[in-house]
Amino acid sequence: MLVLGIETSCDETAAAVLADGHKILSSVVASQDAIHAPYGGVVPELASRRHVEVILPVVEKALGDAGVSVRDLGGIAVTQGPGLVGSLLVGVSLAKALTYVHALPLVGVNHLEGHIFAAFLTEPKPTYPFLALVVSGGHTALYLAREPLGYRLIGQTRDDAAGEAFDKVAKLLGLGYPGGPVIERTARSGDPAAIAFPMAQITDGAPDFSFSGIKTSVSLFVKRHAPLSERVVADVAASFQATVVRMLAAKTVKAARRLGATRIVLTGGVAANRTLRGALQAEAEGRGWELYIPPPLLCTDNAAMIAAAGHARLQAGERAPLTLNSVPDLKLA
Ligand code: KG4
Ligand code: ZN
Repeated sequence: MLVLGIETSCDETAAAVLADGHKILSSVVASQDAIHAPYGGVVPELASRRHVEVILPVVEKALGDAGVSVRDLGGIAVTQGPGLVGSLLVGVSLAKALTYVHALPLVGVNHLEGHIFAAFLTEPKPTYPFLALVVSGGHTALYLAREPLGYRLIGQTRDDAAGEAFDKVAKLLGLGYPGGPVIERTARSGDPAAIAFPMAQITDGAPDFSFSGIKTSVSLFVKRHAPLSERVVADVAASFQATVVRMLAAKTVKAARRLGATRIVLTGGVAANRTLRGALQAEAEGRGWELYIPPPLLCTDNAAMIAAAGHARLQAGERAPLTLNSVPDLKLA
């Protein structure tokens, strides 16, 4: 079965055609980075306007690259939430129009479930149950995927998402947007042990995350030591990245041990980070755990992952009505 995936939850307009739930025939991602870069973050109104402008060409290119037409599709999967309401509405409206006109099955997909399904787009695929760390610009959460399409929320951030912290720290350092890739690049020439930024302590013992403290520490450091030399900027980037990675890895290991999980999925935009990938790899290897991390291009927002989750839901008999609406705070579990 061919599934068209459509993703417009934030600032990437994406469409992809997937065969049999895992073969990527095409994957088109139109980035809006250049539009939001001057503001150091996503401007929701600009994002939705841009989605409207490019969604049709993006979908047409995805179909063209795959060499298929809408009539060949077995269904359309669209991100229903969570995300920016104006952005989500563009994808949902187009998906509904296409499925109505062509009498195709429609299914709404949770964006976070999409990130988890990115792990099924390469070999080897994870088997259930597994623990998934979803780290993106909007979310940082641990889910126990007990069975296909069945999730339990284990822990989540109490304030900023990890990607958001990368973006804010990049802005503080004057490095530009998006922050993750530029911090990672800058950190390469810095010393990760140069500055001791604090690790957040969650005193009630919950497997939750917090990144607002380290962001404040970086902000104070920058104010106290301004103007920063190139060398110090690299040290701040490297020390910040090392601390965030340590926090993410420590919480994931702790949760996995508590749950007895031996299979871990690492996904979401921040999972493109090599230091984070390496840290979890080392933890997993040391314990004999299986670790599954999608290639970087499937970690950041794309529509192949939405089509993959949608395929599983369509196969399970799920159909969305034409009253399907976007849900900005849609929960996965
Ligand atoms: O999953 P994603 O593309 O969009 C959301 O669902 O939010 O994640 C985007 C986030 C941004 O905050 C971006 O700075 C971060 O992922 N990111 C990275 C890297 N690449 C993207 N963070 C750290 N290192 C990277 N290489
Ligand atoms: Zn995402």
